[in-house]
Amino acid sequence: MRRYVIAGNWKMNMTPNGAKALINEMKPLVAGKDNCDVVLCVPAIDIPAAVEAAKGSNIKIGAENVHFKASGAYTGEISAEMLCEAGVEYVVIGHSERRQYFGETDQTVNLRTLAALNAGLKAIVCVGETLEQRELGYTETLLKFQTKMALTNVTAEQMKNVIIAYEPVWAIGTGVTATADQADEGNGYVRAAVAEMFGAEVAEATTVQYGGSMNDKNAAELLSKENVDGGLIGGASLKSAAFAAIVEAAQ
Ligand code: PGA
Repeated sequence: MRRYVIAGNWKMNMTPNGAKALINEMKPLVAGKDNCDVVLCVPAIDIPAAVEAAKGSNIKIGAENVHFKASGAYTGEISAEMLCEAGVEYVVIGHSERRQYFGETDQTVNLRTLAALNAGLKAIVCVGETLEQRELGYTETLLKFQTKMALTNVTAEQMKNVIIAYEPVWAIGTGVTATADQADEGNGYVRAAVAEMFGAEVAEATTVQYGGSMNDKNAAELLSKENVDGGLIGGASLKSAAFAAIVEAAQ
């Protein structure tokens, strides 16, 4: 059966000292909540402090991006091997902010996914439609296309380390959450795309998160849906009580 994964995405927030303090605050609040994996994806510079602070707890540390090349002349970039050695277990790939502001394409999302999986990281691959695309009626087509592009050349075996986050762009950081039915439907399109590529068994076992203004108030309803296997949480992952309440909702 598929595993719930509650993952925070801190984006460009928190210094290393702040990361340490917030994780120390969160540790007792999420301790023993074993019905889901608890992950915090943090800025690269925070990783050593976050890994150190999370030691001995059930909080796992993720990165927010990874480069697709193993090494070389790519100034400013960070490889999958570097992340692994630093103690990172998860990595967010293809977040809509990276697609929107940093020229991320479906091709580079795919290359990053392959690099992460080949290094043994768990990939949290983000897909999602804009409001305009939704209003034009392209949500299903787009979600399936983005999912299939991201997973090109991934093996069925590697799918065990793939999590897909359906994040409608219009719901990210806006306070406008998708309704539970919209989240379930979007996640269902993603699962259908996985089934078309890898078969029903792999699709049934794949964790599909919802993300976009998920918080302590709406998490229980979103997570009650058949196709919603967790959350990718931005704003609410910067507040220990709110994040812990979302983890609790997944129990
Ligand atoms: P939000 O961000 O929870 O602040 O909407 C979600 C995300 O971008 O992953």
